[in-house]
Amino acid sequence: MRAPWTRRHRLLPGLLALACLATVAVAAAVPLTTPPARAADPVLVLDATFEDGTTQGFRSRAGETVAVSTAVAHGGTHSLLASGRTASWQGPALDLLDEMVKGTRYTLTVWVRLAAGQSPGQVRLSVQRDSGGTSAYDQVVGDTAVTADAWVRLSGTYVLAHDVDGLSAYVETASGTADLHIDDFTMAYQPTKPVQTDIPALREVLAADFPIGAAIGNRQVIGDQAVLLRRHFDTVTPGNALKWDATQPTEGAFRWADADTQVGFATDNGLAVRGHTLVWHQQTPAWVFTDTDGTPLTSEPADKALLLSRLEAHIRAVVGRYGDAIGVWDVANEVIDENQSDGLRRSRWYEISGVDYLRTAFRVAREVAPTAKLYVNDYNTNVPAKRDKLRDLVSRLRAEGVPIDGVGHQMHVNVQWPSIAETEAMLRAFIPLGVEQQVTEMDVSIYVDNGESFPTPPADRLLTQAYRYRDLFALYRRYADELTSVTLWGLADDDTWLDTFPVARKDAPLLFDTELQAKPAYWGIVDPTRINPTPTPTVSPTAGPTVSPTVTPTTGPDSCRAAYTVTNQWPGGFQASLKVTNTGVRARDGWTVRWRFPDGQLISQLWNGTVRQDGPDVAVTPTSWNSALPAGGTVEFGFLGSWSTSNSRPVGFTLDGLACATG
Ligand code: XIL
Repeated sequence: MRAPWTRRHRLLPGLLALACLATVAVAAAVPLTTPPARAADPVLVLDATFEDGTTQGFRSRAGETVAVSTAVAHGGTHSLLASGRTASWQGPALDLLDEMVKGTRYTLTVWVRLAAGQSPGQVRLSVQRDSGGTSAYDQVVGDTAVTADAWVRLSGTYVLAHDVDGLSAYVETASGTADLHIDDFTMAYQPTKPVQTDIPALREVLAADFPIGAAIGNRQVIGDQAVLLRRHFDTVTPGNALKWDATQPTEGAFRWADADTQVGFATDNGLAVRGHTLVWHQQTPAWVFTDTDGTPLTSEPADKALLLSRLEAHIRAVVGRYGDAIGVWDVANEVIDENQSDGLRRSRWYEISGVDYLRTAFRVAREVAPTAKLYVNDYNTNVPAKRDKLRDLVSRLRAEGVPIDGVGHQMHVNVQWPSIAETEAMLRAFIPLGVEQQVTEMDVSIYVDNGESFPTPPADRLLTQAYRYRDLFALYRRYADELTSVTLWGLADDDTWLDTFPVARKDAPLLFDTELQAKPAYWGIVDPTRINPTPTPTVSPTAGPTVSPTVTPTTGPDSCRAAYTVTNQWPGGFQASLKVTNTGVRARDGWTVRWRFPDGQLISQLWNGTVRQDGPDVAVTPTSWNSALPAGGTVEFGFLGSWSTSNSRPVGFTLDGLACATG
């Protein structure tokens, strides 16, 4: 039975627009032999506006008051107010157990605003799932700035991948107990497109070179995700399920449910498994580094012995449980700090035990899994200083008999970094050591700095990304004798850790899009002749069968116009205005305008937008009320700034990454 207050109808205009754009972005860049399946209309499952004067199923999480309010409203005259909160995790919650179907991707959207008089803060949207008396919490939208003056929209996707006996969505604050309003909550799902069966399987394309893998969670082993995974990949890496916080959250109380599900799926389907990871400074519970009464362990011999015995017990349990099902282990993860003269990260592991935790970890792993390949894994191994410190550590430890078989290169890279030459130098550096090498966590972010944020990946970025995949895989294939596998950190763009790291924004770093369809990046590996040879795609409205007759992609340099005017200037200061016109035919819901100041100018205050400045680089995003920028529409904002020797015009205006004409 569905709750009586829900109402459902088809067509959610915002979502629909996004879905169309996503289709066009792929279509613009890749002339496929057959058009990818088109997205159907999103289906609205829940909609709460509070206009009927009830809380529409929303309740408090624990003791705070949740009641309808007419003090402010996002739409209409009513909202919901949570007050009397005594903890940041309290807030309005809605039960979803009867509404969410496991394996379906839902978009949850809610508008939030702090009550009058509250100081600015941060809010997030989360889901609580309960199972057999234990609760887990998943973030749907990460910490987002909010004030008492404007509504902010939190919108993100969620897939339930566990069996649960309780499920709810809720809004909480990052800290503090401010009273907050919510309004216009919706939950919708996008009917999925079929997994493409008329494109080559990646694993067949790469069969002569190396096995190809993907990081997975529970949701990748059900439904269409599982179909896609089996079709294209040879190996999997559980992305979180084998980490210490997942397997032994409290001492001696092991939890195997998620790891068993994922390793079991792999075994049943003939996929090899990379075990990730046994010892790391993150996702390790605090108890590991404290004694039984909570005192932090020190480097005293007794404390050190306790730590190493815990490490040994952990490895015996985790590695022992999976036996031959896991043939490669990331025994140690991210242990290098290139800024230390000995190259070793000052983690709690190191502080308490020196290098002995590494000796113990590899020795015990070898004893329990004598035929498994044992790896040390790290990020930024292309950076020469880090690469060399890792190489020195591996050669030092191997010389003393520590059983390290291989070096894992994470390869969390982006569309412009690192260079192919530097990546090649990375692979070459380890050849003299006689170790195996694997690429273990590759993804290619569409962002080049933390200030960028695109609601939908721009077509030119996806194309640049395709070139990066093309060139990096061409390099890997040249080094196929050294590389014993290449793993991507995820299966498709609907589920990537980069959506919240290093900042919250939608990223698209993988080979398949949010609807599981092959991206230009996929073709960059599989058949580079299929990606447009010019980095700036210009697709005419009649370019091919995959372009919607009603939506024309415009990604060329004429997609926007920026008119910059200094309206007032005085010694040391100035006031300016910027008008940006969307001269493309694509409406933008949420936008980023960027430019660069040539003379060290600094913005002190900006109105009609939110500004971030990083040195000369400026990025402006909308306020709550001007995020919609229709085709032909204009946004205008103004600011106060400072200057010293000169105040020349900014350069490099872009709208969502597309260069703007000026004037
Ligand atoms: C990431 C997971 O993908 C996220 O789900 C989790 O919240 C944080 O960790 N380097 C690693 C991986 O070695 O374990 C990390 O995985 C990504 C960076």
